[in-house]
Amino acid sequence: MNRDDFPILNSGVIYFDNGATTFKPKCVVEAVKAYYEDYTANAHRGDYDNSLRVDKMYEEVRNKVRNLINAEKDEEIVYTKGTTESINMVVFGYLAKKLKKGDEVLLSKSEHASNVLPWIILQEKIGIVIKYIPLREDFSLNDDLIEDMINEKTKVISLAHVTNVIGDVRNLQKIGDICKKHNLLFIVDAAQSIGHLKVDVQECNVSFLAFSAHKMLGPTGIGVLYGKYDLLKEMDPLTYGGGMNAFFEADCSYELKDVPWKFEAGTQNIAGVIGMGRAIDYILEIGFDKIHQHEMKLKNLAIQELKKIPNIKIYNEKTESGIVTFNIDKVFSQDTAVFLNRFKIAVRSGNHCAKILKDEIGITNTCRASFYLYNTEEEVMALVAALKRQDEVYDHII
Ligand SMILES: Cc1ncc(COP(=O)(O)O)c(C=O)c1O
Repeated sequence: MNRDDFPILNSGVIYFDNGATTFKPKCVVEAVKAYYEDYTANAHRGDYDNSLRVDKMYEEVRNKVRNLINAEKDEEIVYTKGTTESINMVVFGYLAKKLKKGDEVLLSKSEHASNVLPWIILQEKIGIVIKYIPLREDFSLNDDLIEDMINEKTKVISLAHVTNVIGDVRNLQKIGDICKKHNLLFIVDAAQSIGHLKVDVQECNVSFLAFSAHKMLGPTGIGVLYGKYDLLKEMDPLTYGGGMNAFFEADCSYELKDVPWKFEAGTQNIAGVIGMGRAIDYILEIGFDKIHQHEMKLKNLAIQELKKIPNIKIYNEKTESGIVTFNIDKVFSQDTAVFLNRFKIAVRSGNHCAKILKDEIGITNTCRASFYLYNTEEEVMALVAALKRQDEVYDHII
């Protein structure tokens, strides 16, 4: 893991907000730049050299994504703007027509807004019923209770692989097996896991998987929806226009292209696709085992040292990802974040878009330090040193 690959680190920032978005290595920025400087063309529209080059690269990245998540076919990979758009496409393009009033969807209270709000809207539109799988005392998902919640009305389980506040890693294999046994759709929000852990959609019986490139060293505005081929075939696009139709006539007859192109209306984020492909290469060159071990080393150090400081409450000591969620007792989380910023330490504060988690952890706002491959033990110790000076919080923020 070479910090020199990330020129932004030269600014001296200690960046612990990787759950929000990650830094981009030089190779990703260069890949994006090369597309704009050297061979700009639209995808699937031209018959000249640059256009054919772009077509090839655009489809090669689909194959890289397929290998990354072990999908069966390239056609199961749809480019989207990111996790949020991917989940919305499934909920409104597929489930809005497949589910009916009274059908039950199982979520958890630690899901991100993008895996709760679309379901709330679907509940409003067609009367589905949302049920929440209980959390354990440590706020991780209690997957032992899932089967007890399933009845003949249960149709879908939709969960994050890794949650963005507690950072618990869900057992996709176990939940996927339950979905297979009970013939349920299994939707996985992989936003917080895709750049950190190996995901295997076939092994875990995942029906749909959503993720964003910007949380895995790639550009913003690009992500993926994976769907099993037969499910994508039945799913409707939410956007119609150029590039996704085979023909349309004045008499209103039309035919859409096949999966996945029917979901990619209009000019796509081609530079983003190319950058995402380079980010995947970069991550695979390092390897998920190494990335995970590094993050856990940093998390364990942070927990060990933060526990020595009086007044620090940690909410997720045990979870197996590089996320540490904490508060200084009686200090508003945003005040802590502003204080840490004085030391060039970037953490996230607030509810982290997981707005119903407060029902479980009993508090609305927390600080989150989320580690990634370029963070170091020295940086963790700088966070610890700053938090030891917590008596100065109010001097610093006023
Ligand atoms: C668990 C989880 N799901 C979904 C999202 C939404 O991702 P995006 O904003 O890239 O669509 C996030 C972003 O923080 C997240 O952490």
